[in-house]
Order: sequence, then structure tokens, then C-alpha cells
Amino acid sequence: MIGIFDSGIGGLTVVRELERQAPDVPFIYLGDTARTPYGNKSAETVIRYALEDVAFLVRQGATAIVIACNSASSVATDALRVAYPSIPVFEVITPAAEDALAATKGRIGVIGTRATITSGAYERHLSAQKVEVVVAACPLFVPLVEEGWLEDAETKRIARRYLSPLRKQQVDTLILGCTHYPLLAPIIRRYMGNRVTLVDSGTSVVRRVLAGLDASRPDLQAPRRFYLTDTSARSEEIAATWLGHPVTFERADLLCQT
Ligand code: DGL
Repeated sequence: MIGIFDSGIGGLTVVRELERQAPDVPFIYLGDTARTPYGNKSAETVIRYALEDVAFLVRQGATAIVIACNSASSVATDALRVAYPSIPVFEVITPAAEDALAATKGRIGVIGTRATITSGAYERHLSAQKVEVVVAACPLFVPLVEEGWLEDAETKRIARRYLSPLRKQQVDTLILGCTHYPLLAPIIRRYMGNRVTLVDSGTSVVRRVLAGLDASRPDLQAPRRFYLTDTSARSEEIAATWLGHPVTFERADLLCQT
């Protein structure tokens, strides 16, 4: 079974893509809503949270892990691979960087949380090639998405402020380097214009996950389950709208060892 985790509901953008590309592949989803956002926290804290998230998913029977969070992918991938050497761990940075390099004419923008941008993970992946890279941290986007303010005037104003340097520098490709951001794609698209290619790190990773797993394996036949560390009716509403089907979140207790 594939275990997918994020700091909150942002990783559902990866789930949506997985359901679209492979409707029969089961998974277990964990959103650490009790401790979101991760992107404003130190690398040490994000690593600790990611290890606890994956320990929960493995206890539930996960045999492959998708880090559906750029912040955790940026700082915690190595620690997770060391802790779980026999489980494939997929991160979102490499696939998104590869897709952006395939799409760009030379100038790539990257938006993400502070943790992701400060880590320099995207720049490391992109700068080996002959492209210009313009990065911007957008720390207010995650709380706006968790609040469901996807088309509000305040969100549009904040988006303009974050994105205007990228627009001025005429990036031709923009990596949505946080799995929450595809929920804001309509606003981002309108402001950046149709000539800019948006790269969704979730879409990029799902193709690699499906290529890397044998979907007929018996351990990939279990039912789908959705967990949050702090549940709310609001999260279920946003999830149902985003995924196009009802979602019931179970409460995850990360400290319980069973
Ligand atoms: N959705 C996550 C990411 O891709 C986490 C955002 C956050 O918790 O700050 O970075």
C-alpha cells in the first residue's frame, strides 16, 4: 500500500492526481493538520515530524512512501531513506525540477514555503543546467488554503505581492513548489498569464511513483483511508470539493504505537 503524507490537506493535490492516473491503486493518506504548517519550522523539527508521520503510515501497512510535501522533501528525504532502507521513498523536488527543465525556455520561477526555499533544494537541482532560477517564499499561501480562501480578494492581493517579482523577471515556467499551491492555481494562472507553464510537483511525482511500483502487487490491493492528526468538518468540505467525492477523515494518533 502507498503511504502519502503532508503537513495538512495540501497533499490531496497528489491524491487527486493519483486517483486520476491510477483509479484502482489504494493508498493511505496522512495530513498532519495538528502541526501544520511545516514550512515555517526548522529543518530539525520538520525531520522529526516527517519521521513520526512515516512511522504511523508504516504501522498502518504502507510499503512505499510518497512525501507529498515539498518542505519535508527538501529537508527530510535523506533521514527517511536512512530510517527505512527497505521502503521506496518518493520525494517531490526531483520530478518537479525535471518537468520544469523539460518545459522551460530558460527562466524558471520557484515558489514554496520558507523551509523549501531556504533549503535551496530546487536551485541545487536546477542550477546544474543552463537556466536562470528566480525563487520566492510565499509563507501565507498555506494557511489561506487550509482556511479554504481559494478565490478571496485577500488571497488575490497576497498572491500579487508574492508573484510580482517573478512576473517582472518574466519567468516562462513556474514550479508550484508546495503541494498546497495547486489549489491556488486559478489565481496564480490569472496573474502570471497563459504564457507561463505551471509545474505542479504533485503531478510530477505521481508519474514517477506509478512507473516505480508494480500496481498488481498484492500489498497494493488494500482499501483507501484518509487520516488527519486534527479533524474538522471544514477539511472534509475542502477535500470533497477538491477530490470530487466525499471524504471521511479518521483521526490519527501519531504517538500511539499500535
Ligand atoms: N504542502 C507542503 C509543501 O509542499 C507543506 C506546507 C507547509 O506545511 O508549510 O511544502
